[in-house]
Amino acid sequence: MTDENFTSPTNVGILAMEVYFPHTYVDQTELEVANGVSAGKYTIGLGQEAMAFTGDREDINSVALTVVQSLLEKYNINPADIGRLEVGTESLVDKSKSTKTVLMSLFAESGNTDIEGATVVNACYGGTAALLNALTWVDSNSWDGRYAIVVAADIAVYADGPARPTGGCGAVAMLVGRDAPLAIDLGTRAAHASHVWDFFKPNLDSEYPEVNGALSQTCYLQALDDCYNRFLEKSLRMRNRVTHASAADYFVFHSPYNKLVQKSFGRLLYLDMRKGLIDSTPVEKWLAMPVEQTYEDKELETALKKVSADGYRSKVDISCKVSKQIGNTYTAAVYMNLANLVSAVGENLIGKKVVVFSYGSGALASMFSVVARETGHPVFNLKNIQQMLDIPYRLASREKCTPAELQEALKFREESHGFCPFLPKSSIDKLAPGTY
Ligand code: ACO
Repeated sequence: MTDENFTSPTNVGILAMEVYFPHTYVDQTELEVANGVSAGKYTIGLGQEAMAFTGDREDINSVALTVVQSLLEKYNINPADIGRLEVGTESLVDKSKSTKTVLMSLFAESGNTDIEGATVVNACYGGTAALLNALTWVDSNSWDGRYAIVVAADIAVYADGPARPTGGCGAVAMLVGRDAPLAIDLGTRAAHASHVWDFFKPNLDSEYPEVNGALSQTCYLQALDDCYNRFLEKSLRMRNRVTHASAADYFVFHSPYNKLVQKSFGRLLYLDMRKGLIDSTPVEKWLAMPVEQTYEDKELETALKKVSADGYRSKVDISCKVSKQIGNTYTAAVYMNLANLVSAVGENLIGKKVVVFSYGSGALASMFSVVARETGHPVFNLKNIQQMLDIPYRLASREKCTPAELQEALKFREESHGFCPFLPKSSIDKLAPGTY
């Protein structure tokens, strides 16, 4: 193994991935018309093409059951071989009973009750916290040789208004173990944690968050800066490796909406320029500006958009195809994008380095690198994961609904939220086969 591709002696990481998103979606152009906003506001302004949604037939427990059952079946995993199961979500239906324990119903028949882990909550970051817990367990001396499963799942819905088109719904389940085709370098991971009120859910009678859109964008970029600077510093200190954005083959970001991902990649180049790692001529006049003043500078954004366009196309856009189509899936978003990268590139990813950035409001964030490897394993290899995921086919099989149907589905969700018992009103015909 070269230093450039160093992860850990155990090559701990992701062995297999499964994704789920609802069968129903709304087109963002049609939503622009229905909402009476200017043409291009959601499609160009936010960079989104479509948004997945579901009615009152699904909640986060059923979504998580669907994706885990599918992972177990597709990869023929014996439930008795799982020693840890951890969930990240912010779509809670219960303040005490965790989604993790609901998932234990899938293990009942096997008699396996010896499974650690719980549900982790912090906005869009819970999935990453769950993944880091699982990776650390598998990498440790106390690992007992069994696999871990990590689930990141959310139903992202916003109140009527400018945030509503940035909703979505989806889940990712990941099998974690050693000798992984997607090995994660735990040694150079970098974190950012701070106390901010950009997005939170204080009203337990509603699914909708309180969100300060402008603040959340700035908090996201501040966390990105902090993680990236720390990630570069750790790469130098721990791996004796001078690195910068051009050194990675792909970047995968948490994606509230695609425009923010485009800006984020430009931001990394800007940080490289401020450090003198790459030619800084295009942003000369912003090099000495205090960094706090740069987050909302529109002229700088435009300059960075231009300078980062080629890099965005070759290193970032390929992972975003799915999130442009299904929207923000909160905890799942960044892993949905990673899955899309594998689905698109398959075994051609071998030897490539992927930098992952995860952000959750409040705020917590992490950046880490993934090295794609040849494993020689008959099942846990990139070619097989690509075939199992086949995201283009799944997207194409969905049913397009009207904005009026979206409104109705959200109304049904509002009417049932927090009520027990309730009679679901959405049609089961809108669910794909195999959906809980
Ligand atoms: N054609 C092209 N572009 C347009 C058009 C148009 N017709 N109309 C507006 N735009 C552009 C704007 O210029 C702006 O671009 P910019 O971001 O490059 O400046 C963009 O569309 C957004 O428009 P705004 O009017 O600035 O913002 P809006 O009121 O639509 O709200 C926001 C956008 C803040 C993202 C809102 O949807 C929101 O609050 N979403 C939820 C919060 C969120 O996702 N935060 C991100 C991090 S936290 C998390 O993951 C939840």
